[in-house]
Amino acid sequence: MGGENSPREADGAEGSAAANRFALLYELGCAFAARIELDELIPLVVAKCREVLNAEGISVLLLDPEHNELYFPYVSQVDPNVVERLRRLRFPADAGIAGAALREGIAIRVADAQRDPRHYHGADEITGFTTRDLLAVPLITHQGKVGVIEAVNSRGPQPFSEEDMAFFEALGASIAIAIENARLYTQVRESEASLRTRVGVLRRDLARTDVFSKIIGSTPAMLEVFRLMESAAASSIPVLIEGETGTGKELVARGIHMASARSEGPFVAINCASLPETLLESELFGHRRGAFTGAVRDNPGLFRAAHGGVIFLDEISDMPMSMQAKLLRVLEEEEVVAVGDNLPRKVDVRVLSATNRDLKTQVERGNFRQDLYYRVAVFPIRLPPLRRRREDIPLLAGEFLNAAAQRHHKRILGLAPETIDLLGRYDWPGNVRELRNEIDRAVALARDGDLIHPGHLSAGLGVSVTQAGEPPTPVPQTAAAPATTQAAPPAAEGQSQSSANSLRKARAAFEARHIADALRQHQGNVSRTAQALGLSRAALQKKMKAYGLR
Ligand SMILES: Nc1ncnc2c1ncn2[C@@H]1O[C@H](COP(=O)(O)OP(=O)(O)OP(=O)(O)O)[C@@H](O)[C@H]1O
Ligand SMILES: [Mg+2]
Repeated sequence: MGGENSPREADGAEGSAAANRFALLYELGCAFAARIELDELIPLVVAKCREVLNAEGISVLLLDPEHNELYFPYVSQVDPNVVERLRRLRFPADAGIAGAALREGIAIRVADAQRDPRHYHGADEITGFTTRDLLAVPLITHQGKVGVIEAVNSRGPQPFSEEDMAFFEALGASIAIAIENARLYTQVRESEASLRTRVGVLRRDLARTDVFSKIIGSTPAMLEVFRLMESAAASSIPVLIEGETGTGKELVARGIHMASARSEGPFVAINCASLPETLLESELFGHRRGAFTGAVRDNPGLFRAAHGGVIFLDEISDMPMSMQAKLLRVLEEEEVVAVGDNLPRKVDVRVLSATNRDLKTQVERGNFRQDLYYRVAVFPIRLPPLRRRREDIPLLAGEFLNAAAQRHHKRILGLAPETIDLLGRYDWPGNVRELRNEIDRAVALARDGDLIHPGHLSAGLGVSVTQAGEPPTPVPQTAAAPATTQAAPPAAEGQSQSSANSLRKARAAFEARHIADALRQHQGNVSRTAQALGLSRAALQKKMKAYGLR
């Protein structure tokens, strides 16, 4: 038989070709919707398109506006050698039939390229390919012409038809949109990444100002601390903060963290002195369910909880020797093994530690491992005791006074010069914390509109008890906390029963508040609060009961 197909058969063949094209358009429509990365999308489009158009090659040529050249980032070809050569080829954007389609912004169909004066023979020479017939469709987006899509050499009995071109044009429109979307997406992603970086930098700057400004001090010793904190914040090296109790070690640790690149990560603090050895290990490194009695569920441990952030090992000198060995291993391997587990897990944690004992001396005495010392004390920061920076006392006292007055809803006029004098002469074994507590106490005792007089201070500061019992005499305001109105109501003329009563009440009120504050500071732990207040546990409990505290 051979020859022409019967009309029905021809209909059937055309019908199935049209169905194929619809199927392809549908499939590509889905691909366009699902993918935004051109490198995934376009290879799929050109490969499918080659199949459906039955072409030897399909290429997307993109315009490089800077050099006004066309190049071939995406090619689907029967011959892989031609693909390679085309990928390396660039030619002037106005050359060839592709150039004409781009310039004129219209689709071009050529049945015999070799005879077309517009044909660019350079490409054929380089690739060794002979172009017979071709379709060239410009890719036009809202932002202008971005390239051309070409179909080369129909593999059917006839060159590409008008219908082939109409189909190819429709496809070109979708590809142009995909290219535009992908470019916009890349722009958005890049600007998002750069904004993220800039916001991060600004946020850290802000945090640094914020946290650093909470740390009060203007003496050279404190300025040096700020300088060291800045350096520590700029890297991830382990920092050891040394200083007597109440000198602000935790404040400094938090400040370093907040001003560092890890500030978005967690800050996990653990007091190494507060936990028994067995618990310390499972707290730090976690445990598997059933690892010991009471381990009812898996616990990842604080090291893993601090992943991406900081673990603050407070009172590190109190860490038991056996734990020191385990900690050293974790720091060296950068991985933890939970109690009852044998699977090491990677952790990325910065270690900040603090101690109020001289860690070096602890090493010399054999209480602290030397190798661990060198690991944690890479960058030491020593905080000066308050008595070594007495010039900061008025500044600190003024700040604490304002804060306390606000908390107690009292209008306090300021610190009397004699008060500042006394505060400046005292040795402050409890350092800044003790000063803050002292001011808190004074504000609690003071009446609305008072100036803080030596009589408001504790006896320990060099004020005699009788003096403390006397009502304060008004004195001129000081610079520490500026006063706006006249000082305090006049003192009572004579000591009466009622003033003695009110003193007792004030003392009780103060004591209750002081105990409540101390409890809060120790997270409600009665033993530690009792220790901090210099009371026995039983005595503290009795007072708590009397004041209705828990
Ligand atoms: N330079 C400072 N400026 C303002 N407040 C400070 C300063 N130093 C310490 N403080 C305050 O003093 C109190 C104690 O500070 P922090 O807890 O950081 O001390 P610490 O050195 O960790 O003490 P400890 O050794 O007892 O744990 C906190 O309320 C803190 O806000
Ligand atoms: Mg501390």
